[in-house]
Order: sequence, then structure tokens, then C-alpha cells
Amino acid sequence: MVEDKLSPAAITSNLETSFVGQRVIYYPRLTSTMEIARQEAKRGAAEGTTVVADKQTAGRGRMKRIWISPQGSIALSVVLYPEIVYLPFLVMLASLAVVHSIEAVTGLVPQVKWPNDVLINGKKVCGILIESEVRGKHVDYVIMGIGMNINLRLADFPEIQPIATSLSDELGREVSRLEVIRWLLKEIERLYQSLPDGESIYQEWRGRLVTIGKRVSAQWGATRYEGIAESVARDGSLLLRLSDGSLTRVVAGDVVMR
Ligand code: BTN
Repeated sequence: MVEDKLSPAAITSNLETSFVGQRVIYYPRLTSTMEIARQEAKRGAAEGTTVVADKQTAGRGRMKRIWISPQGSIALSVVLYPEIVYLPFLVMLASLAVVHSIEAVTGLVPQVKWPNDVLINGKKVCGILIESEVRGKHVDYVIMGIGMNINLRLADFPEIQPIATSLSDELGREVSRLEVIRWLLKEIERLYQSLPDGESIYQEWRGRLVTIGKRVSAQWGATRYEGIAESVARDGSLLLRLSDGSLTRVVAGDVVMR
């Protein structure tokens, strides 16, 4: 059993960042880290302030879904104040930070499913939720929420077992959540600081997408598109070649690979 107690001190001590994760607010149990991070941002918390919970009771996912985050998972939200031009890159940045952290700590090789699910062997190990408050051309704040399945037995969660995995299920051993969190915070900061060169983030994210070249069905609101995922644009949208030969742009939503 890996010694894995989370605390602000354990997360921040000698953390090689200048702002991300330098202030950590930790809860053993919480509704959703998104809520506390939002309150912090509204109060003008320092950029990089990070809310971490051992367990969320009302974790939320994209498109109003519930996010299950029991003991053994990672649930964290980071407060950021980016310029508006960088908003599209944050989804890419977060997925890459997760991928790099998993690779560094475990040696596993994750993939990204458009727009920002991180998969291992075709199953979801991490979900990312980016929420922002924007007024005109000014970003009041962004909350970058990351949920990762670390030391979970998916057999205990039959409702998500067919589509989800955890690092411990993949490796057959437990992983230090603390180590993953510390890598993650470092990677978020490194990539965030490289945003003025958003092109390299876009290129790497595009290269990691398992979705490209696949027949997919994309759902956005009430509309469903079927086609071949041909590419992604720099604004993060998915370019789908439909059966009539036309190219359509899916800005947000979810895809199912056929
Ligand atoms: C998704 O794949 O639908 C996104 C899931 C995002 C879950 C994380 S866990 C930390 C943060 N708090 C939440 O309530 N949601 C995000």
C-alpha cells in the first residue's frame, strides 16, 4: 500500500512551481472542488490557487453529467486568470499536463479523445472540466477542474466499469496520488507559461488525439453528426467529413468512436 495522505503541506513542500499549487486548499470531503475554486476566484484568490478533495459528493462533469470521485481518485481545481486569446488552448493544455504526469509517474502511455478525455487502453482515466467567467473581452477567471482515477477498483463501480479505468487497475499496483498531483501542478504551470507559443501545445495535443481518422458520431446539444474526424482546428473544434463530402465544424460536445 502506497503512503498517500494528501495535505496542503505535502503538496506544496518544495513544489517546483512559482504560482500553480503554491496555495492549496484541501478538504477530505467536499461537494465539488469547482464550487470552492469559484468562490476563491470571485474573491480574487492568487492565480494558481488549487482546491483538492479526497472525495467529492457532488462532482460534476461536462454537459451536466455527474462525476464519480470516490476515495482513491484525484479531484482538483486550479484558479487561473488567462488572457482571452488563450482560452481555447486551456483544454489542450490540461489534457497534455495529465498525459505527461501519467507518463512520468507510471510509464503508461495515455491517449486523448477529443476534446479532453484522457484514455488508457481505450478507457477513460481522467476527465477535465474548464469553466470560465468572461465579460466582453475580459476573462474574470477560469477554473480548470481535473478528475483522475488513480487507486480505484473499477469492479467496485459497475456503472462506469465498461468505459472507465484507473491507474491501479492498469498497473496492478497502487500509485502515489501525491506524486501525480505534484507532477500535474508542475506541468500545468510549465504549459501555461508556454501559452504565448500556443502553436506547440496545439500541435502536441493534435498528435495525441486518438479521434483523428476515426469514424465518429458527435453529439452537441440536440444535434448529432456522423462522419470521419478529419482534423482539429487551432480553436480546438473538430472537423468532421460528412457522408455527403462536406466538412463540418463541431465546436463542443462529445464523440463516440465507431
Ligand atoms: C468530464 O469528463 O465530464 C469532466 C469531469 C471533471 C471532473 C473534475 S473532478 C475535479 C473537478 N470538480 C468537479 O466537480 N468536477 C471536476
